[in-house]
Amino acid sequence: MDFLRDKFVLAGAKTIFFCANIEIETELCRQTAILIRNDGGVMEIVIKNGRVIDPKTGRDEIMDLLIVDDKIACIQAQISTDQREVIDANGMIVSPGFIDLHVHLREPGFEFKETIYTGSRACAKGGYTSVFCMPNTKPALDTKETLQALKERIQKDSVIGIYPVGAITQGIKGEVLTDHSELYLSGVKALSDDGRTTMNPDHMRKAFEASKKLNIPVMTHSEDHDLTERLKGEIYPPKAEYEIVYRDINLCAEVGGKLHVSHVSTKEAANAINEARTNHVKVTCEVAPHHFALSDKNVDMTSTLSKVNPPIRSEEDRKAMIAAIKLGWVDAIATDHAPHEASSKETNYENASFGISGIETAFGVSYQTLVIDENIPLIKVLSLLTYQPAQIGGLENEGVIEAGYYANLVILDLESKWQVISNQFISKGKNTPFEGMQLQGEVVRTIYRGKTVYER
Ligand code: DOR
Repeated sequence: MDFLRDKFVLAGAKTIFFCANIEIETELCRQTAILIRNDGGVMEIVIKNGRVIDPKTGRDEIMDLLIVDDKIACIQAQISTDQREVIDANGMIVSPGFIDLHVHLREPGFEFKETIYTGSRACAKGGYTSVFCMPNTKPALDTKETLQALKERIQKDSVIGIYPVGAITQGIKGEVLTDHSELYLSGVKALSDDGRTTMNPDHMRKAFEASKKLNIPVMTHSEDHDLTERLKGEIYPPKAEYEIVYRDINLCAEVGGKLHVSHVSTKEAANAINEARTNHVKVTCEVAPHHFALSDKNVDMTSTLSKVNPPIRSEEDRKAMIAAIKLGWVDAIATDHAPHEASSKETNYENASFGISGIETAFGVSYQTLVIDENIPLIKVLSLLTYQPAQIGGLENEGVIEAGYYANLVILDLESKWQVISNQFISKGKNTPFEGMQLQGEVVRTIYRGKTVYER
């Protein structure tokens, strides 16, 4: 291969390596026309004999996968392991790393609940390689200065990709708009006031105008805050959710832009979203594991550990979430990972904080409920955890197992049975209604940009 001694740009290949000592991987990678650098200066890892599932292309076959540096270089049978690190994935699934559109990492301001350091490692344990963090921090993610400081913290402390979601209104108070363009330029990938739904329709209109201009989604939490405030901590009714979903669908249809409905929990909201989509409104939605796995039938609704917004609902709504997933109406599974300190749950129901620490149980709960109990094809569930959220969040180089994409991967053991023990969570938040539950399907290893960031 001496003639290959300079720089190469292969037309059509997404990954291009410029280097002094290049050899073409004979036979194996020739088909994908990828040049592999093999001069010892670059990390090369072969994941051997895994069942590679890629929801975008529909690939589902036993293959080897070569990682060079931070990217996937090729997927072939029998890739040479010579002078390369080897990860044995025999009997395991190799999937794109999970992507969560909705987590609370609590920094800045609530470091006693979670930090970027602990949260990112908890995400890695859950199989996540990229997450979108919500702006309900202190200060809220509402200025370029706060975002800059957060980005520096992420750079320093995170082991995975963290994408901030910018606030629609200052301090998420619903009073004064933030500068949406400035937030976008500071790196936000979406706009949302999260748990404090933007109640003023004019503010929402402005958010959709920004969404249209900047091509990022507006994420709505969908809760009629005026109504739930009046209910004072009572479990809020489906109406509080679906009326805001109707409002936001109508605003999105009128103004343009993209609407993403966070953690849908009612059948009416799911129906409305599906209908809007058939009418060409750009709306997508996510469902949280606790909303398709739990209902008032199998959970103690008076326990503070099941107190969450939107609430755990009726068995009819839970079944509607499963049906919506089966029908393809749901675009993503998102955890709404909401870690809290123990004392905020060890109080009476009315005073307890809302939220479930869900990032470390998400795959087990999804595999157990959707694949084992409901017979939903694994590839479909993986799509909701990977490729589809990547599309919604605008992550172009993630969520896919193909040459040239980031080597963000998760290796899964589908046979492993395990029990949820919150004391073993990496997250600071041990607040889970799944405590003691027996689950099947476990994350064995998480790889972010070519580096192992979690290993069982
Ligand atoms: O249960 C929830 N907890 N729902 C939200 O919308 C916010 C979240 C939190 O920040 O704790």
